[in-house]
Amino acid sequence: MTGDSFVIAVDGPAASGKGTIATRLGALYGYPVLDSGLLYRAVGVQLLQSGGDLDDAEAAAALARKLDPASLEDPEVRTRRAGEAASRVAAHTPVRTALRDFQQQFARQSPGAVIDGRDIGTVIAPWAQAKMFVTATPQVRADRRWLQLSAQGETVSHDEVLADILLRDRRDSGRADSPMVAAADSVLLDTTEMDIDRAFDAARRIVETARARQDQS
Ligand code: DC
Repeated sequence: MTGDSFVIAVDGPAASGKGTIATRLGALYGYPVLDSGLLYRAVGVQLLQSGGDLDDAEAAAALARKLDPASLEDPEVRTRRAGEAASRVAAHTPVRTALRDFQQQFARQSPGAVIDGRDIGTVIAPWAQAKMFVTATPQVRADRRWLQLSAQGETVSHDEVLADILLRDRRDSGRADSPMVAAADSVLLDTTEMDIDRAFDAARRIVETARARQDQS
């Protein structure tokens, strides 16, 4: 199952820092990086653009089955609206099933891969050699996401962003299929008091510990 690939699973809630950590780990080790949230965002955006209903599991799954990786580059997938739509379509089992093979194939690349998301260490790549669950308080995550959305030109209040984050946390961790939860064998990384350099350094140490463990076995 594992082959020659060293998989780094970076899970956690929105705006915890997991995306930046994953990107920087990929650059450090020379591994490709998959932001799995973009897959759900692209499905949500396409469903909205086609006038579909976010509660329609089959319509969402049909789009997930023919998802074009190029659609992940569309700036629309990074909007607030896309994040909300992603969380809605991600609750449908047929959507998750349709996106699973792609993520697992990505994980099996040699010499390794980094994937960030909500269920990477638990469902997509439970065999991952390094797993971390990156978190921060909702208030701090809202600060970060508000800055990011404002820089993208979105007009939104801090309170609205905080409400989005709380709703999304509740939905992502409360769904029946592959809920957001720290894998039992993951390392918790709370970035509330950390800037991104410190958070990355802590993440790098988690990976180094996992690599040393693998070298010994
Ligand atoms: O990481 P993100 O904020 O871009 O993710 C958007 C939504 O996609 C998130 O609220 C839940 C869903 N998602 C998921 O269910 N499983 C993943 N592995 C990644 C994202």
